[in-house]
Amino acid sequence: MPVTTRQIGPCFAAEVEGVNMTKPLSEEEVDAIHAGMNEHAVLVFHDQDIDDEQQLAFTQSLGDIEHAIGTSLRAPDEYRLPTSFADVSNLDKHNNVYARDDRRRLFAIGNRLWHSDSSFKVIPAKYSLLHARSIPSKGGNTEFADMRAAYDALDADTRAEIEGLICEHSQIFSRQQLGFTDFTDEERERFKPVRQRLVRTHPATGRKSLYLASHAGGILGWPVPEARAFLRDLVEHATQRQFVYAHKWTVGDLVMWDNRRTMHRARPFPAHEPRDMRRTTLMGDGPTVAQV
Ligand code: OGA
Ligand code: MN
Repeated sequence: MPVTTRQIGPCFAAEVEGVNMTKPLSEEEVDAIHAGMNEHAVLVFHDQDIDDEQQLAFTQSLGDIEHAIGTSLRAPDEYRLPTSFADVSNLDKHNNVYARDDRRRLFAIGNRLWHSDSSFKVIPAKYSLLHARSIPSKGGNTEFADMRAAYDALDADTRAEIEGLICEHSQIFSRQQLGFTDFTDEERERFKPVRQRLVRTHPATGRKSLYLASHAGGILGWPVPEARAFLRDLVEHATQRQFVYAHKWTVGDLVMWDNRRTMHRARPFPAHEPRDMRRTTLMGDGPTVAQV
């Protein structure tokens, strides 16, 4: 079946038809998906009745995967899924919904802030693929913002000002914004800041985009309050509704996004209802900038 796309967002994001993730992909299908990602940055695939193995095989046919090791507050013996998955659910390893005040849940609420996956890692993520296994009765949308359109809409002075800037990203910064500061010494060490460029050039399209995330807590050479106020203004600019696609989930949807060119955030839903979302992630090509 030919792979076709139809734009559904304001300046990006498309729905895909003609892909069946229970079957191996042909070379043409792989090429069409990458081409669709280069054009639209977010692709929505409906009615994908797949298990973990099939999600992983589909993901691996597109590139090398990133493992989710030590990126949440789950201890290794608390993992519900193998480390080839980021567990984006609100479930413990026995599939029970976390208590409202469970610190692993409170940490995961950080996903409600605009971010780009793994910007807190030296090599940040390329694509993320999120599959809906069970969804709450209401709420729980995921929103995406087009950082290329947001970059294009900046005035020339701002573009010149941000061109060479380097930010520091850490999950400690994003959680701090929500008043979550309850980290152990081991976690503080594990979540040490990494450097990322504020402006990225997409390797396939040559287009520039803003590289922002709630994890960004500083700009090298800038006083912290000034950097945070500046980053906050950029996020506010970049997440205006004309740059946003909001995805309302149906079980079986798989949404794939390019973290190099988009931000996303989860929206709230009833705390006691299960939401089982499983993410596989493709590793990025390399760091955006040299580390110290
Ligand atoms: C993610 C993420 C948002 C959501 O999977 O990386 O941020 O709505 N998910 O669960
Ligand atoms: Mn995310």
